Formats: sequence, C-alpha cells, structure tokens
Amino acid sequence: LFTAVEMAPRDPILGLNEQFNADTNPNKVNLGVGVYFDDNGKLPLLACVQAVEKQMTDAPKPRGYLPIDGVAAYDSAVKGLVFGADSEPVTSGRAVTVQGIGGTGGLKIGADFLKKLNPTAKVLISDPSWENHRALFQNAGFEVDSYAYYDAAKRGVNFEGMLASLNAAAAGTIVVLHACCHNPTGYDITAAEWDQVVAVVKARNLTPFLDMAYQGFGYGIKEDGAVIGKFVAAGLSFLVSTSFSKSFSLYGERVGALSVLCESKEEAGRVLSQLKICIRTNYSNPQIHGATVVATVLNTPELRAQWESELGEMRVRIKAMRQKLVDGLKAAGVQQDMSFITSQIGMFSYSGLSKDQMVRLRNEFGVYGTDTGRMCVAALNSKNIDYVCASIAKVV
Ligand code: LMR
Repeated sequence: LFTAVEMAPRDPILGLNEQFNADTNPNKVNLGVGVYFDDNGKLPLLACVQAVEKQMTDAPKPRGYLPIDGVAAYDSAVKGLVFGADSEPVTSGRAVTVQGIGGTGGLKIGADFLKKLNPTAKVLISDPSWENHRALFQNAGFEVDSYAYYDAAKRGVNFEGMLASLNAAAAGTIVVLHACCHNPTGYDITAAEWDQVVAVVKARNLTPFLDMAYQGFGYGIKEDGAVIGKFVAAGLSFLVSTSFSKSFSLYGERVGALSVLCESKEEAGRVLSQLKICIRTNYSNPQIHGATVVATVLNTPELRAQWESELGEMRVRIKAMRQKLVDGLKAAGVQQDMSFITSQIGMFSYSGLSKDQMVRLRNEFGVYGTDTGRMCVAALNSKNIDYVCASIAKVV
C-alpha cells in the first residue's frame, strides 16, 4: 500500500527543532522557531497563567465536549481584543469569532471556509512570508502566488511593488496580510502605507485575511491591533487569525482563533454556521484548557493588566537583544553595517545571511536559524549572545 510513498522534506521551521534536539554541540543555540525565551534561556510560564491554573486546580471541573466554536467566554474576549470590546463590529453582532487550534488552526478554518465560498479564487501571500502560509493555503486547495514585499537591497519593504501587485490582483483574490511584526522579515509597513493598502484592497474588491500572530510584540496590544480598525473603517468584510502561542507563552496549548467581520448580524449567523461545519469536519471541537486560561486572564482586569505587563517585558527584552546583537556583531569584527536589525520589529530578524552561511552556522557552530536567514531574536540572551555574534562573524 505505501511502497510509492515518498519521503517528505523536513518542515523548514519545526524540522529544525528536530535537528537541534539531536545536536550534541554543548554551545548550540536555537534561533530557528519563533519562540520567546527569557534571559536565562527558559521558556516563561507567565504569572497570570499560573494564577488562573491555580484557580483551576483549586476548583477542578469535569471535561465535557466544548461547543464546536469553543469556549464562549474566550470567543467573546478574543473578539473584544481584535475589534475593541465596545466597537461597532462587536456591539452590532456582525463580528464572529471561533476558537481555533493555534493561529494555524484559525488560518485553516478560514481557508477551508473561503475555498467553499469562492473555489476559484487565488491566494496572495507576501514575498517572503511565514513558511507555512503557502503550504496551508495550497493544502486547502488554492493556487497560491505572492505579492512583492521585501526589498533586500533597501533592507525594507518594497511598498511600491506591494501596491503594484495588489493593484494587479483579480477581484476576489484572497490577500494574506501580516497585521504586525512581519514574519520572517521583521519589516512592517507604516500606518500611512496601511491606509493605501486598505484603499487598494477595497477598490480592487480583494478579500483581506489578516494574520495576527504577534500582537503585542511590536509596540503594544492596542498599537499593534490598530490596523484592524482601518479595515473596519473602510467598511470591508475580512478575516483575522489570532494566536496566543507567543503572547501568552502557551505554545503547546494551541490557543488561537478566527474572527470574521460580516456585513450584518444576520450574515454573521450564517457565516458562523459554515465555520462550525469546517471545524466539525476537521477536528470536531477544540480543547478546554488553554482557551479557559486566556479567557480568564482577558476577562479579569487585574490579570489582564498583569498579562500586558508581562508581555511588555518580553517586548522590551527583545528590543534590547536587537541592540546587543548589533553591538556584538560589530565587536566581533563584522564589517558590514548591521544596524538594520534595530529597525526590524517583533521576534525575527531577516539577517541577510545566505543559505550557505546559515547551513555553516548550524553545522559548524550549532547556531540554528532558517535557511532563508531568519533568526529568532527572542531566543537570544546575555549568555548566548557573544557566542552567536562570534559564530556569525566567522561565516560572513
Ligand atoms: C515560526 O514562524 O517560527 C512560528 O510561527 C512557529 C511555527 O509554527 O512555524
């Protein structure tokens, strides 16, 4: 039966974890996957999360099936986070949010739903984009192409190119946009540029799908979420996937969501009924634990304040590591100006290193980043930074 099955290549991001775990180099550093580690190289367990988990163990509850769309308190808290709790999309009832299995789950539910709605539509992702975007939408049955985004020579966004790509897209094309902290480049467009993107999306009648996996890692929860308000103000219908993997350090709990802004409450009801079919036929219904933790934090003012402060600490530490990386590379003898690293935002730096250099970094020094030159700055700390800088200096 399986004799013709070919060996698939390793996942370009999660496959690196397998290689990293098997590496016996005592100095190894994992800058491959987008995971935040504290200055001691430890994965944080946030105090706000621990507080809720204590409440949960103090008053244990039985575990029946959740509704298909997940924990109700979670869905409404996420909706409030995405659109604003008192915003018109929420109060009017025309926004719908369903719990997803991580941000990836939110994307997949949305992709399956859109495929049924508009089977011949094309999907456009940024060039480059998160490694999984193309495969995820292709697996949902779409033809996936890209819109111009990164300008290597300029070390920034090729905004004219981006607009030109969007202007050339056929009506109904699904455009996957990174709401903040672009993965993998770390370069976001400005607020004024977002206004232009929104205008083109509207004029061309494109379908925006915003991937918001890093809310809070750029400038703050509200600041990073501001782009959603621009799409709302333009009167557009759109989709948003949310992830709490990074912002709550709850990677393995797979806590995410899909939100869809519809034209009316009545339409939202019909959309929800279809999303529920996509969920039910994929994995039936989601898990209780992580979503309950996130819902409790978001719905309890003191815990929410604590979360925002813990998230703020992560954001500030990442920014400090960017500066240390720039300084450390210079001190290690790297001739070229690496100061662009501090103008990138979020967890990643698109280092500009070639595939060969990344492979050498991995094989000779145990420093893991993706083949595309992406490094997770959020995994640097005061103990590994000198080693990472010295290793990079040897390969550039
Ligand atoms: C990443 O880009 O490294 C993260 O989003 C983790 C993942 O699932 O790829």
